Amino acid sequence: MENRKIEHLAVIMDGNGRWAKKHHLPRLAGHRAGAESLDRTMHWCKEAGISYLTVYAFSTENWKRSKGEVAGLMKLLSHFIKAKEKELIKNGIAFRVIGRREDLSPKLQKEIAALEEKTKGGDFTLVVALSYGGRDEIVRAAAKFAEQGHGDNLEEAFASCLDTAGIPDPDLIVRTSGELRISNFLLWQAAYAEFYFTDVLWPDFDKAEFDKAIVSFSKRERRMGGRLK
Ligand code: FPP
Repeated sequence: MENRKIEHLAVIMDGNGRWAKKHHLPRLAGHRAGAESLDRTMHWCKEAGISYLTVYAFSTENWKRSKGEVAGLMKLLSHFIKAKEKELIKNGIAFRVIGRREDLSPKLQKEIAALEEKTKGGDFTLVVALSYGGRDEIVRAAAKFAEQGHGDNLEEAFASCLDTAGIPDPDLIVRTSGELRISNFLLWQAAYAEFYFTDVLWPDFDKAEFDKAIVSFSKRERRMGGRLK
């Protein structure tokens, strides 16, 4: 059957805090383990022929967390950018950030822009949502849309104003840790996405669970609003 291939996988990496608690570790250790899980998942995606992986790393609401946790997460991101540069370039992985990047420190913004520039044109793209909220993205896109002219295809013109311009919509959205919510993630882009929810905590997301998500997707009939033949 057609329509079974995943071009774009998106993940709500949830459960780092609970994983840390379970292992009697500080929350940041959970986020560090989460970053390692992301690293593994990125490579499984590449092997599976997926072209885009988008991960929800920091939401517009996450600024409300403790100062220490926010600072720790920012440090982790900065570390990830520096530590992964060579590997991303070597493996043809493009890095791209969506969200309110102006909310981030000028230093982190510079590091992000430099990595985006250096990894441009890779055949696999890692999209990291940072200070990201779907509603916020839509509202910013609406302001941009109102300012610029557009042709007859309004949806296409609007999509080109989103942070994800040029990125196909996600085919499958995975959320770990047993929560059954979208939490302001890719609201516009998720219109026809399939969902896969698992109780596994993000740092424990392994190849078996990845394969389960892919198989589950491949068994679904994607009607995209149309009728099945
Ligand atoms: C949700 O778990 C996870 C986050 C808010 C942060 C996700 C960040 C990473 C996986 C690592 C950093 C990413 C990169 C790109 C290096 P939670 O803290 O809400 O977990 P809980 O619900 O169990 O408390």
